[in-house]
Amino acid sequence: MRCAIAKNQNETIEKIVSLSKRRGFVFQSSEIYGGLNGCWDYGPLGVELLKNVKEEWWKAMTYREDVEGLDASILMHPRVWEASGHVENFTDPMIDCKQCKARFRLDTLTELISEKNKEKAIKEISASINDKNNQLNIDKYNWIIANEIPLDDKFTALLENQDLSIKLIELLGCPQCGNKGTFTQPRKFNLMFKTFLGPVDDSANIIYLRPETAQGIFVNFLNVANSSRQKLPFGIAQIGKAFRNEINTKNFLFRTREFEQMEMQYFCKPGTDKTNYDEWKERRINWFKSLGMTPDKLRFHDHPKDKLAHYAKEATDIEYEFPFGWGEIEGIHNRTDFDLSRHQEYSGKSMQYFDDETKEKFIPFIIETSAGASRSFMAFLVDAYYEEEVKGETRSVLRFHPRLAPIKAAILPLVNKDGMPEIARKIEADLRPYIRIFYDDKGAVGRRYRRQDEIGTPYSITVDTQTLVDQTVTIRERDTMEQVRVSIDKLLPLLLDKLKQ
Ligand code: GAP
Repeated sequence: MRCAIAKNQNETIEKIVSLSKRRGFVFQSSEIYGGLNGCWDYGPLGVELLKNVKEEWWKAMTYREDVEGLDASILMHPRVWEASGHVENFTDPMIDCKQCKARFRLDTLTELISEKNKEKAIKEISASINDKNNQLNIDKYNWIIANEIPLDDKFTALLENQDLSIKLIELLGCPQCGNKGTFTQPRKFNLMFKTFLGPVDDSANIIYLRPETAQGIFVNFLNVANSSRQKLPFGIAQIGKAFRNEINTKNFLFRTREFEQMEMQYFCKPGTDKTNYDEWKERRINWFKSLGMTPDKLRFHDHPKDKLAHYAKEATDIEYEFPFGWGEIEGIHNRTDFDLSRHQEYSGKSMQYFDDETKEKFIPFIIETSAGASRSFMAFLVDAYYEEEVKGETRSVLRFHPRLAPIKAAILPLVNKDGMPEIARKIEADLRPYIRIFYDDKGAVGRRYRRQDEIGTPYSITVDTQTLVDQTVTIRERDTMEQVRVSIDKLLPLLLDKLKQ
């Protein structure tokens, strides 16, 4: 009998990080030098899994009549980031402790301060604002406190208010050194990485590593429309690296400084934006489900109107329930005509679309679907991880959808004699041009199955004594552990068929 014994417990992430290193999914970047915070390297199995996630996304998004692909450069004209609003708005408020020099993102204080100290500071701030007799702040404070919301939400709401947050941080102790009243005022910190174009390091040559791939799509809208002869509505999809100088990186691959995005911008006529937004929302959540992600662990989180990004009319996050809580894996936005209008304004070039049928000229609206490849990778990895009790032993298994699995099939001669290795090697040679396989003849076959379960290989093919008699092998299925006999000449079509499903 099997039972799940460690799903979604707090230690799951630690186990996955350890398995990732041991089996070659993910390594810390520059590990031999002590690592580089917020950067990770994908090992032999990780690179396969990541490639499969991106390939599935690419197929779902571009093997359609109405979506074209693009691969824009990472470095773009600096005016792009002025037009997009990133130079001005892509900032996080940050505070430093003057005593121990630790730096914190203001909004992370909610997680870092103990419940007791939060309650104490909330009480004390009331006296401090009454003293100053500032009616606006008193009203805001009273409104937050009167609200029937949990303590953390109250504390966060106070931090989000410019005046109240200044008062609040004066009352808090530094989470690192414990000293009180040592924080600087909050300062804006731009998250874009800067570098210089050409050999001279001066401000005239500053350019940025892109913080999102989307802008490469916006500036190429007319190039793609004209060269592909697409008519509205149509989309442009792109996969590529993005860089953000995050102040607090955390939770393994969840928030990193270098990551990959899979973004699609769907250009449509104003007035049709709501329908397209709703359709893309459904398509995108179904994509995660179609690749085996547990439906109960997926949800939409619609952004309230007062929290929308400056460019958005409507927005939702697809969230996954990680062991540390719900986290965004993809954002879907109705970006209106904001981006193309801004690029028209900043470049002086028309971004208008000419509708042949109605003879109208207008700036299209954009529906954006923006997924993190690295975050999706992590969600698929976490979702697939199970520990089960099998015959008194613990088996760890990654139940990847076969299309995502790094290795599709393992080939295992039962023993290294009696002609079995020769047959197994012949099977390997026949399958290798078509699917990623692994040949393993080391140790007891039960151990070999466990090694494959641990990396998520969906099928294990075993050559045994009966193979010598009738040219059949067993195929063991990872999740059920059931075995069926198959004739060697049927193996390839059978596996290809399973991988299509
Ligand atoms: N073009 C819109 C845009 O970039 P976003 O919500 O900032 O929107 C989209 O990012 C997706 O990119 C997120 O849902 C997440 O999956 C991924 N992402 C963003 N920042 C990330 C980070 N620091 N580390 C890993 N993935 C990140």
